[in-house]
Amino acid sequence: MPSTLIQLDNLSKVYGTGNATVHALNQVNLTIEEGEYCSIMGASGSGKSTAMNVIGCLDRPTAGHYYFDQQDVSLLPNPTLADIRNRKIGFVFQQFHLLPHLTALDNVILPMIYAGVSATERKDRAVRALERVGLGSRLYNKPNQLSGGQQQRVAIARAIVNNPRLLLADEPTGALDSRTVREILAIFQELHETGITIVMVTHEVEVAKETKRIVWFRDGNVVYDHLTPEEMLEVAIS
Ligand SMILES: Nc1ncnc2c1ncn2[C@@H]1O[C@H](COP(=O)(O)OP(=O)(O)OP(=O)(O)O)[C@@H](O)[C@H]1O
Ligand SMILES: [Mg+2]
Repeated sequence: MPSTLIQLDNLSKVYGTGNATVHALNQVNLTIEEGEYCSIMGASGSGKSTAMNVIGCLDRPTAGHYYFDQQDVSLLPNPTLADIRNRKIGFVFQQFHLLPHLTALDNVILPMIYAGVSATERKDRAVRALERVGLGSRLYNKPNQLSGGQQQRVAIARAIVNNPRLLLADEPTGALDSRTVREILAIFQELHETGITIVMVTHEVEVAKETKRIVWFRDGNVVYDHLTPEEMLEVAIS
């Protein structure tokens, strides 16, 4: 029996106060088991990134509960949350978010410095993570010497180098051409096969189709779950 990794329980997130109040998430219930490969879809402003920020322990709910790996995140102090993020969660973003003055290798080494890994092990693990995403020959290139797809692969290597339980990707293919999108999806598929839980936000039906579960957000809530590719297409054009 797989165990529950992510559980949002009547979870709400409100930004701002008074007239400027935005109900970004409105009593969301969502459970994701260890090992699932999910995509989150929905219109712009429907709360996808807000949900990802809560799931990734980058932000706390305003009301309701978030249980990550059976622990109620709202009860944990900030340093504990930072530690959970560093050890258990990897992040990939549309714009890669690599540090421009560091080589690919040093970008991937960075999260291991925070995790307290020894210097020799850091380098070994970073090299292996970059080899795993097909960048073994680009260790010493800086981001501006790499294509968009290569930069995203560095970001994936960085995200997996601490062997996280969960990989969160917010529109990871949004800035890439279709051939590169397929390469990135092939890497995600391989990671999925190793058992890591993946949650990915995407606007592209072709990308969502590759995942095993499609969740649809509207107005800060989950309105459809476990959509088939055919159902997703219908929802997408409606
Ligand atoms: N820091 C913030 N302060 C105030 N409002 C915010 C903040 N972040 C998001 N919002 C609002 O919350 C709502 C949900 O935003 P969110 O970024 O989660 O949407 P999204 O589904 O990721 O959209 P997109 O597809 O455009 O990325 C929107 O109305 C947005 O304007
Ligand atoms: Mg977003």
